Amino acid sequence: MKALITGGAGFVGFHLAKHLISKGYEIHIADNFQRGRKDKDFGNLLKQKGVKLIQLDVTQENQFSRLDKNYEHVYHFAAINGTGNFYRIPDQVLKVGAVGTINVLEWFSSKNRNGKIMFSSSSEAYSGLLGILGNKFKIPTPEEVPLVVENPKNARWSYGASKILGEVAFFSYAKARNFKRFCVIRYHNIYGPRMGYEHVIPQFCERILRKEKTFRIFGGEQTRSFCYVDDAVDATKLVMESEKTNGEIVHIGRDDAEIKIIKLAEELFDVANFHPKIKLEKEAEGTAQRRCPDITKLRKLGFKPKISLREGLKKTFEWYK
Ligand SMILES: NC(=O)c1ccc[n+]([C@@H]2O[C@H](COP(=O)([O-])OP(=O)(O)OC[C@H]3O[C@@H](n4cnc5c(N)ncnc54)[C@H](O)[C@@H]3O)[C@@H](O)[C@H]2O)c1
Repeated sequence: MKALITGGAGFVGFHLAKHLISKGYEIHIADNFQRGRKDKDFGNLLKQKGVKLIQLDVTQENQFSRLDKNYEHVYHFAAINGTGNFYRIPDQVLKVGAVGTINVLEWFSSKNRNGKIMFSSSSEAYSGLLGILGNKFKIPTPEEVPLVVENPKNARWSYGASKILGEVAFFSYAKARNFKRFCVIRYHNIYGPRMGYEHVIPQFCERILRKEKTFRIFGGEQTRSFCYVDDAVDATKLVMESEKTNGEIVHIGRDDAEIKIIKLAEELFDVANFHPKIKLEKEAEGTAQRRCPDITKLRKLGFKPKISLREGLKKTFEWYK
């Protein structure tokens, strides 16, 4: 079985590649290292039999000739993730999400249409609705909620908007180019080793390791539902490999693990055996108060998360240490 992972040098793509290789798949990774790293872990992955790296920028259509033919599975993960980037380089966030995704669909529908293709969207595609509906917003959140850009003047929405456009592009291309084997997943707060430094858990790990005496926490009362990357990889494979998910959107994450950010920090302090003074600060504008996915669809495919938050945080903290 041969699979292509765009953005496979990044966080989730790397763990997925590692897992699929251990199951005997042939894996091609297409990445331009905008964010993914050529670190020791990635070097070790490339040494495994059956892994090939293809240096490719998804925004450049002429580079798609570097890809092979007949991939059974195409995981389109290339994106510019990380909240800081949404503010700093919103033009590139949109370009990779919009132009990159359209290029992937052009290539897939003309050169690889016998395979199945997946788009990794995000809870950010609907979190604008939360800002509008407040307490009336349904949590855990099912797949069918409307997708909303709350405020186009806030560059933060470059990412959410790019994911909305990506989802629409998948359904539109499938209809117009007449292919049926595609699916959209929406990841919800996946965490684990090698996830970069742009997210809350690695940032907390770094600050704990720096031994910050007064620990400022922004939006400590907000909740998120964290899912360890190995569980997310299992879920991703389940969605890709089921024919029941063709033409479907599936939420990936945990519905049993919603936690306040302040509690998350306290869990990490216990893991690290470090107990600083906490100072609560106001959250950034446009960030969702609560987030927790409804994963009924995923459970029906047989998904059972295995890693508890404490265990996942231990593994993650050890890696960052
Ligand atoms: N990690 C999460 O919790 C989460 C949540 C929601 C959605 N997602 C989505 O899942 C996917 C994987 O997320 P991740 O956390 O692994 O992100 P990541 O940033 O670690 O990986 C994305 C990869 O895409 C590559 N990339 C960026 N621009 C590219 C380009 N122009 N051409 C080729 N490659 C390019 C980067 O170099 C990087 O290796 C992304 O689409 C992301 O938006 C992730």
